[in-house]
Amino acid sequence: MSELTHNLTLEGTEVQFSCNADDTVLRAALRAGIAFPYECNVGACGNCKFQLIEGELGNKWPEAPGWTDKDRERARLLGCQSVPHGDCTIKVRTSAQYAPVHTPRRVSATLTERRDITHDICEFRFAIDTPMPFEPGQYALLTLPGVRGARAYSMSNIADPASPSLHFQVRRVPGGEGSSVLFDVMRPGQRIEIDGPYGHAWLRREVKRDIVCLAGGSGLAPMISIARGMAADPALRDVKLHFLYGGRSGKDLCGKDMLEALPGFGERIRYYAAVSAPEVNEGGQAGAAAIAVNHLGFVHELANALLGKRLRDMEIYFAGPPAMGTAVQQMLLAHRVPSDRMHFDQFY
Ligand SMILES: Cc1cc2nc3c(=O)[nH]c(=O)nc-3n(C[C@H](O)[C@H](O)[C@H](O)COP(=O)(O)OP(=O)(O)OC[C@H]3O[C@@H](n4cnc5c(N)ncnc54)[C@H](O)[C@@H]3O)c2cc1C
Ligand code: FES
Repeated sequence: MSELTHNLTLEGTEVQFSCNADDTVLRAALRAGIAFPYECNVGACGNCKFQLIEGELGNKWPEAPGWTDKDRERARLLGCQSVPHGDCTIKVRTSAQYAPVHTPRRVSATLTERRDITHDICEFRFAIDTPMPFEPGQYALLTLPGVRGARAYSMSNIADPASPSLHFQVRRVPGGEGSSVLFDVMRPGQRIEIDGPYGHAWLRREVKRDIVCLAGGSGLAPMISIARGMAADPALRDVKLHFLYGGRSGKDLCGKDMLEALPGFGERIRYYAAVSAPEVNEGGQAGAAAIAVNHLGFVHELANALLGKRLRDMEIYFAGPPAMGTAVQQMLLAHRVPSDRMHFDQFY
């Protein structure tokens, strides 16, 4: 970590924060408790825009998809890709919903274990030198050897101060730089830097409504963490959980064994599966672990068929590929589910 820091001031306010020369404007602001808007932290969503009023900044990734030609014309920059070269004054519209629930910190992490979950999802477990408190459903940024930019992965475990560790369930993306390094290069014992926690789709413990978790493909980890967090919280013992997982075919289905390990499985915790493109002869029973299929189609269709109008009275968490996120949102809006009961951080 760089020793050199710069002072950043929010225009028109007394608010100042310091930013390490190797940190980004967004992450430094969140470390200072400032409710800087963001979602992905990796240059894709464009939610972290601000204006530079005075000073000089560098751009870590000028080709970031979240930085448009219009932004360049209007001198707007991405907080998650901007690094200060000196003291700066910036203008940004903060909003309470973005206030960090835990202060993000950088920790040194050692890969201790890996375990196959499906043919293309693997769990990577890291021991960390200093605890990183986080809420179920949040994510962290992994700096992987030889990979440009950090990669966002959601934790699948729940924070345990007695044994600080972070577990990630990662889907191999064909040709993907970061996931390939995790699968093919990283070996137990290797150390990396992890920065977190980030994200807004964390378990709302104060709400006592029944919970629905919808996961597709790479979205397994944050939903498993929410299920584990809910099961471990005595204040939520009367809450029911409907966990719905969607894959293309039976060999993609997973997560049921993780829920079976939780107290209340089969009673207040239930698992349902959907497959959208079953393989020949797969029928209604599929997968290496023969997880029963409840629906042939998409996971949002399964939620609609299973819960319908009742969704309006539930707290809903979802994670997965962008197309799934959009379909789930449309289905929930059609049921007039209030937006403050829907929780998701779009994956990119
Ligand atoms: C909030 C969030 C949570 C996620 N959680 C999970 C999870 O739990 N499990 C899972 O499998 N996947 C998760 N993802 C997806 C994951 O972060 C990666 O996008 C995915 O693994 C593909 O990465 P890759 O490096 O293999 O592919 P690549 O195509 O090499 O990289 C794609 C990702 O890296 C970023 N990127 C690419 N180049 C650069 C660069 N030069 N500088 C900076 N950034 C760059 C992109 O914005 C994009 O996010 C999550 C994504 C987000 C945003
Ligand atoms: S582009 Fe910066 S938070 Fe998504």
